[in-house]
Amino acid sequence: MDMPFSNEDVFNQLRASGLSEKTFYNRYYAGTIEFHAFRHRMKRIRAKSIQFSNQQKTYDMPMFQKAVKAIPDRFLKIAVLPDIHFGDENPHAVELSYKIIEIFKPHITPTGNDELSYNRMTRHPTDPRHHNHARPDDLKEMIPYHQMHVRAITSAVPGTLLPFIYGNHDFWWMRQAMEDFPNGIETLEDAFVDGMRANGKVMYLGETDRFKIHNLMIQHISKGGVNPAKSNMAEYNFQESVIASHIHRRSIHTVAGPNRNFVSVTTPCLCNVTPYYQGYIKKHTAWENGITLAEIDTHNLDQAPEITNLIFHEGKNKKMYARFYGQEVHS
Ligand SMILES: [Fe+2]
Ligand SMILES: [Fe+2]
Repeated sequence: MDMPFSNEDVFNQLRASGLSEKTFYNRYYAGTIEFHAFRHRMKRIRAKSIQFSNQQKTYDMPMFQKAVKAIPDRFLKIAVLPDIHFGDENPHAVELSYKIIEIFKPHITPTGNDELSYNRMTRHPTDPRHHNHARPDDLKEMIPYHQMHVRAITSAVPGTLLPFIYGNHDFWWMRQAMEDFPNGIETLEDAFVDGMRANGKVMYLGETDRFKIHNLMIQHISKGGVNPAKSNMAEYNFQESVIASHIHRRSIHTVAGPNRNFVSVTTPCLCNVTPYYQGYIKKHTAWENGITLAEIDTHNLDQAPEITNLIFHEGKNKKMYARFYGQEVHS
């Protein structure tokens, strides 16, 4: 089967194959970027049978890849500031993360990755203070958070590359918005992409929750279970190093082959460790605050990237601190 050129092509191939969606995916596309982008698109198409325009948006992926190639340093540094959920963020954790990256100086700092909580829109069983409908002003209220975030990152680390990846909350909101404002979805999508680009400072990679640089996959979605990091790696037949967010807690899995080794890690989060929709719980059992730092040895890509989860601890007055490079850094 030929590789598809667009989501439409995949969709047509699926119909022509007569296979179930799941078999089709597993047989032809499991683990590919195209697959993930397409799967999200499919979910949205199924969610509401309205016509999407096939108009190609201008994505910044080529620009991003070029910029990554142009980085002269041997060790490429990436800082993942995961699951901020602005609106339900832990402000001290967020502040501390900016201080850490100021010291770490990453070349790449992905944005998105469940950065926004859409005014506490939730799919979880909820009480009346929260909501599960998109509101027209959600974007208007969320985009300033994103701009503030981008400003904070760029003033801590001028010149760091800022790609954007979707979190499931963005997809939720989009799908909900399609139901709530069927006639305005194109405009909303455009407003979303525009907003996330933050006046050209952020690179919008397309409708995807992940990207790969050198030998490292960075993605939002993670599987659950006993060892999510292992399950995430299984999705790539144990032949990929992965950083995945979404589950707000740490896990790690390593695989060593005769010539190459791989590491998979899940990240902590920067939101409140008891989410607003579980306010009745004192503390979520497994969630932790922190960020994830990675270094890729670009001269030896057979060696798995070095990935560190830096856990934040709570001090006095809810302030947070972390031990980093032998010093204590405080919010
Ligand atoms: Fe999240
Ligand atoms: Fe998530």
